[in-house]
Amino acid sequence: MKTMDQNNYWEKRYEENNTGWDIGDVSTPLVEYLDQLENKEITILFPGAGYAFDAEYAFKKGFKNVWVADIAQTAAERFFKRVPDFPKSQFIVGDFFAMDRKFDLIIEQTFYCALPPGWRDKYVQQMHKLLTKGGKLAGVLFTFPLTEKGPPFGGSIEEYQERFSKMFKVKTLKPCYNSIKPRLGNEVFIIAEKPKD
Ligand SMILES: C[S@@+](CC[C@H](N)C(=O)[O-])C[C@H]1O[C@@H](n2cnc3c(N)ncnc32)[C@H](O)[C@@H]1O
Repeated sequence: MKTMDQNNYWEKRYEENNTGWDIGDVSTPLVEYLDQLENKEITILFPGAGYAFDAEYAFKKGFKNVWVADIAQTAAERFFKRVPDFPKSQFIVGDFFAMDRKFDLIIEQTFYCALPPGWRDKYVQQMHKLLTKGGKLAGVLFTFPLTEKGPPFGGSIEEYQERFSKMFKVKTLKPCYNSIKPRLGNEVFIIAEKPKD
């Protein structure tokens, strides 16, 4: 699938309010992860963040350098209705794969599973490119069987271990104990670090 098709696909889903992935709040695994971070100066990206409740949470908690990227204009417009004081320049309405600035931390939630499965290596490479040395990709990944039908597309711990360890040190990859109820048993928490050298 081309980026243009992706743009139209997601934009239409927002326009039609066909957003079954949206939980209307920040999820507990991300709250607990963000809450234990002490350095509020780090640069954080939330890619494919949609309505970005997680980015809003980080921003309101005092993280100074919070960035969002989403390909859908409507998601951005609705985000700004809710969070008008979020810096306009820090919500990039565009393609994650075309980005080239650096971040210390990138937060994943339902973005990996939303992309065509054939893009997964490209996703890992792009995450690696966007992170500073020693920077981390952290968040939740679904674990239900991969089928042709999606999004969301499934995956497994074994797949994630194999794919991410090609370019990252996989520090954590384990079933989530603190998932929201509808996702309990169907997601893992990952922390993958870009090697320092
Ligand atoms: C399943 S939704 C998840 C949204 C959000 N993470 C959440 O959990 O509510 C996937 C999001 O990825 C965005 N997206 C898809 N392809 C993208 C791309 N190439 N670059 C940036 N955003 C993209 C879509 O617009 C959509 O908002």
